[in-house]
Amino acid sequence: MKKNLKEYLNYIEHLEYDKRLPIHASLFENKAMLSKFIWDVHSHNAKKFYKLQNKKYNSELENLGFITGKLKKNDTALLKNIYSSCKKKKLDPFDFDFNHVYEPRKNLHDDMVRINNYFYPSDFFFENMPKILNPLKSRIEKENQYYWKVASCRIFEVKPVNKAQGFHKDGQSLAIKKLFFFPEGANKKIGSTIIIDKMGNENLIELEPGSWMLFENSLCEHQAYSSDDCCGRPTIEIDIMPDFYTDTKLQYHGVNGWYPWFPIEESSLEIKGGLDYSEILERNIKRISGLCSINTTDNYRFPCEFSDYYDQNYDVFKKRAEEEKIDVEEEKIDIDVKTEINNFINRNGLIRFLSSLISILPLIILKKIIRKIIWKK
Ligand SMILES: [Fe+2]
Repeated sequence: MKKNLKEYLNYIEHLEYDKRLPIHASLFENKAMLSKFIWDVHSHNAKKFYKLQNKKYNSELENLGFITGKLKKNDTALLKNIYSSCKKKKLDPFDFDFNHVYEPRKNLHDDMVRINNYFYPSDFFFENMPKILNPLKSRIEKENQYYWKVASCRIFEVKPVNKAQGFHKDGQSLAIKKLFFFPEGANKKIGSTIIIDKMGNENLIELEPGSWMLFENSLCEHQAYSSDDCCGRPTIEIDIMPDFYTDTKLQYHGVNGWYPWFPIEESSLEIKGGLDYSEILERNIKRISGLCSINTTDNYRFPCEFSDYYDQNYDVFKKRAEEEKIDVEEEKIDIDVKTEINNFINRNGLIRFLSSLISILPLIILKKIIRKIIWKK
């Protein structure tokens, strides 16, 4: 085993496109499969926990798939200052932390560059964004029906382009939500987002400067709206994830770091029973590496491309064609031997057959013994 497995896997994930081996995609695929499984369970439990502790609430977000709101005048001015304090930065698709879901595909990276300009979060951003986020704490809890944490942040501007990426769902864990803040608003002139809500209606989002929108990016189809005439839509993105208590502390894990692969993070609490964060991390990266020798792939797919890895046209539990071919051949050999014996007895009689069998039996046994000795070596 590699001395430091975490470092080795981190190295594989951050290799340049042309240095990647086809088998490396297995690491991404196995992580993605386990991640969706575990996030579903965690999200279900987090929602159940919230519901048990709070009064019934009719969530507009759950009903429609998106909600919007407007900040006060002072907060709108602060939002604009926060956005302008962040410096433009060329997209580095390999800027993501080891424990975080990332987009691995070059064609998607190219699309990100074609459609968006990216900005690095400034100190001013980290100091002041909580002033805007904290007052929304309770509303976000109610609408999501879970306590929440920040999974990641991103600051970008949708460029004037005549073709966005087309309608899509993000294929992330279903409970992860996107919260967009628009310092300059969103509309046809500046650029916007189109969302197909849960009623099936297409909505081109029109919002005033200093507005926000929370939407279910993996449940509702959506796409950025832009055109050659747009002047560029500034956006501050805060991704929200479910937990058992709310913590609005901002988290940044690289421009291509979206949310933790698994709903767990380091803490100063003493957790016994082999369940300390570092122990769990070590066990699980070993499990993932082991899994990569069982479930292999040679290309990077995003989980949404393969309907959660289930193919209804393929019965995974049915014998493979190759196994069936071997079974048929073995059956044919059995039938041939039986026919040969019957023919011999019919031609020469049972006594002659038995005497021949007795004379060659020691030879057959000896042959088998020799074969076993050679095979063991
Ligand atoms: Fe999207």
